[in-house]
Parts: sequence; C-alpha cells; structure tokens
Amino acid sequence: MTTVNVLPTPDKWPHLLLPAAGASGAAGASGAAGASGAAPTDLDAAVAAGAFKGLTEAIKEMTAGEIVAVLANSGLRGRGGAGFPTSEKWRACALTAADRRYVVVHAYQADPAVFTDRVLLERSPYAVLEGAAIAAVAVGASDIIVALHAEATEAIATLETAIREAEVAGYLGNDVLGSGRDINVEVKPLQGAYMLGEETVLLKGIEGHRGQPEQQPPYPTTRGLYGKPTLVHNAQTFAVVPGIITGGPGTYLEAAAKGGAGTVLVQISGSVVNPGLAEVPLGTTIGEIVVLAGGVPAPHTVKAFLVGGPSGGILPPGAGKTPYEFEALEAAGAWMGSGSIVVVDERVCLVDLASVLTRFCADQACGKTIPCRIGLRRMAEIGARFCEGQPRGDEIERLTDLSADIVASRLCDHERRSTLPLLSLVRYFRDELDDHIVRSTCPAGICQPMAASRARAVS
Ligand SMILES: Cc1cc2nc3c(=O)[nH]c(=O)nc-3n(C[C@H](O)[C@H](O)[C@H](O)COP(=O)(O)O)c2cc1C
Ligand code: SF4
Repeated sequence: MTTVNVLPTPDKWPHLLLPAAGASGAAGASGAAGASGAAPTDLDAAVAAGAFKGLTEAIKEMTAGEIVAVLANSGLRGRGGAGFPTSEKWRACALTAADRRYVVVHAYQADPAVFTDRVLLERSPYAVLEGAAIAAVAVGASDIIVALHAEATEAIATLETAIREAEVAGYLGNDVLGSGRDINVEVKPLQGAYMLGEETVLLKGIEGHRGQPEQQPPYPTTRGLYGKPTLVHNAQTFAVVPGIITGGPGTYLEAAAKGGAGTVLVQISGSVVNPGLAEVPLGTTIGEIVVLAGGVPAPHTVKAFLVGGPSGGILPPGAGKTPYEFEALEAAGAWMGSGSIVVVDERVCLVDLASVLTRFCADQACGKTIPCRIGLRRMAEIGARFCEGQPRGDEIERLTDLSADIVASRLCDHERRSTLPLLSLVRYFRDELDDHIVRSTCPAGICQPMAASRARAVS
C-alpha cells in the first residue's frame, strides 16, 4: 500500500470514500473492508461492511430510470474537477441508441503531485468497482475500464485481486447475481503526460492511440470509446454511488458542510506541519482543511493558497474562509481541479510561482488550438518578464487580453484553467507584482536578477 498520511478528521465528519484514518472496527466508507482492520481486498469483510448491497438492490429491485432518478436527487457532481451533475451524463449515455456502451473509471490522476485516487483504489477498491457496476446497469453497459497510471503498481495489484474475488463471488463477470447480465472489468495502465487526463485524450489512450482533445459536443456519453456511448467519471465519483443507492439521496446530500453534496478527497501540502490527504465534507472551508494538516509551522505565516493544482488559482490568506466547493472556488478565481491545496508562506515569491505554473501549463498544452498554444506561451513569457522586473509596456492589460482570447478558444478545459495562476496574481497580489515591475525588487529574494542587483546595491 502506498505510504500516505491520511489525516484524522473530526468524529462527526462522514467517511463515504475512505475508512477513517487509523480506524479499527469503526464504521467507514460503504463496503470499505479496511474499516474493520481487514485487508481492503478481503471480500467477506467488505460484504459484511455493506459492499455490493447497492449493486444487488440496483439489479434486483430497480429500473435503470429509478437508479438515475436517485442519483439526480442526491446532487452528486463529478469529482474530476469541473463538478458536472452526474445524472445528466448517465441519462444521455443510456438514451443514446447503440449496440454497445462503456463505463470508464478515470483514475489516471494527471497532476503528478497528487495521489488521492490511487489511495482510494488501494483502500476502497470494492466501492469504486461496485459504483461503476451500478453505472453499467443504469446505462446498459457490459464493459468497465479502469484507467490509471502505469506507475500506480499497488493500486493495479489491489484492483486485480478485488476484481478476481468479486468475479468468483458472482458480483462481476458473467451473469452477475444470476441476472443474465455480464459486467466485465478491465484494468488499463496508461503512461503519458498531463493532457492524458482530459477525458477525450484518455479514451484515445485506452484505444492505444496518441491523442489530442476533441471538440465537445459530441460528448463521450454519445460518442466515446470506439465511437460508442461512454460514461467517464473520476474514481471518487463512482465510489459513493453504492452508498447513495442503499442510504438514499438524502444521506448523501446531508454529508456536505455547505454548497453541494457529499465529501471529497483533498491533498494538503506545502507549508504545513503534517502534509497528507483527508476526506472532507464539500463546503468545509480552506482554513478548516489546513488545520487538519496542523496549520503553518512557526514562525512562518500564510501568504497564499494554491488551489486546484498547476492550473489552479493563487488565493490570498483571507480565502481561508472560502468553502471548498465548486461555485465558491470558481467565484474566488480557483477550482477544485486535481484536488490539491498547497499552502504558501512568506518565503515564496508569488510572481515566480505564477510564472512557473504558467510555463508548466504552456509546456503541457497539446498545440491543437492556436490561441492556447501561442497564447499560453506568450503569457509564460510575460510571467518571466515580471520575474525579471522588465515588463514591456502595459503587460497587465496584454495579459488580460490574451487570457480572454485563450478562454474563448474553448476546445478543452486546459486553456481556461491555465490562465488562473497569473490572473489571480493580478487580482490578489498587485502589490507584490508592483514590487517586481515598478520597484524592481523581489521581497522573497527569489527572482534572481533583482536579488542580485539588490545585493550589489547593498555591498
Ligand atoms: C488537462 C486536463 C487534465 C485532466 N485530468 C484529470 C484527471 O487526472 N482525473 C480526472 O478525473 N479528470 C481529469 N480531467 C477532467 C476530465 O476531462 C473529465 O472532465 C472528468 O474525468 C469527468 O469525471 P467527473 O464527471 O467525475 O468529474 C482533466 C481535464 C483536463 C482538461
Ligand atoms: S485548448 Fe490547449 S490543450 Fe486543449 S486542445 Fe487546444 S491546444 Fe490542446
């Protein structure tokens, strides 16, 4: 099992995805065998904890329409970053006429610094598999593909054991639970760069092709894997489906703290005492989440929060009060993205940080869309000139214009999000930016030409 620090959370917080940190005998995620101290692949323990109850109910007692209706009432939104309502995708996939449909569990985790989905698969494999199987029943698919990074070897081994066990017990494979329905699961390890996380690229990767994002619509739900209707969700999205079926939509809705439904895995790193990941009710504030990781080590102070991964927003300390949920983050100029919060203290130069992130995003852009390919490169160059204290004319206006053009190209979500680091710098940290471009100084002493010139001035 990947060595990872799963952070304890207050007793009253629900555990819908992972067993409670350090739990032994405590109630945990639906069917999470680990909650009772047993191995996560111990099927008997998982079944005793409730695994495959939801699938049994869905197959034996519900119509496809009823399953989708329960999902719609639960308010479940995708955890792959953008928060699209899941039931709309299920409905579209089920209603598209086809001789074959697919369900894809997206656990590739494009952000190289985040490992929440990998940990989920290692600790709650049956919850993810059962959720995907319920989806297969609802949309009329008989093939599930779990796509994940080839380096996630522990997760791959865990999944393969879990699938074998579930097939022997009749929960997966041919004639599931005597229903005459086949649900076959394939584990697909993939190796690629950041853009492989975008769903249309992921589908091409599963087919064995190199790829760039495709214009949507058509969405994968109508034209996806091998041209067939395909339901793609993040692994976390599937993992909560069994609990929604057995517990009813209300239980899931109530699990949130504010603004949404359910819980989400967040990885907290940077300047914190105890970095790790935690399952938090949607709408928990950023400040409360940072407290789970022990807060900022003395004598340092919070300067900013990077929320959403490399194409995330850099938010000011006041954003500690912002609820970690889709709309509040969007309004603040960030997004959930890869599910990470990086706490930044006074030792970091935010101009340098925004510039490095923009360069990463420009390097990852696949090049299919000209505003994104050229525009992000130009934005990265502006960021570099900010760091050197050598802006050319009104670079801030140029930055805003470029962002508008890039966002308008709208081929995939990468371009829209990749403008966030520099835009949030302009929005929240104008003073630090002016230090660089007006006063030729870098308060953190990071930006080298300015740091060197200051050193010369002092000596
Ligand atoms: C550049 C890029 C990288 C992405 N990486 C991931 C990823 O690692 N995992 C993921 O679930 N979704 C990722 N997505 C989002 C997917 O395209 C898709 O929206 C998501 O998997 C849908 O799942 P959901 O309905 O559960 O949110 C990425 C999108 C973009 C544009
Ligand atoms: S927007 Fe950027 S990353 Fe997306 S397809 Fe176009 S060039 Fe590629």
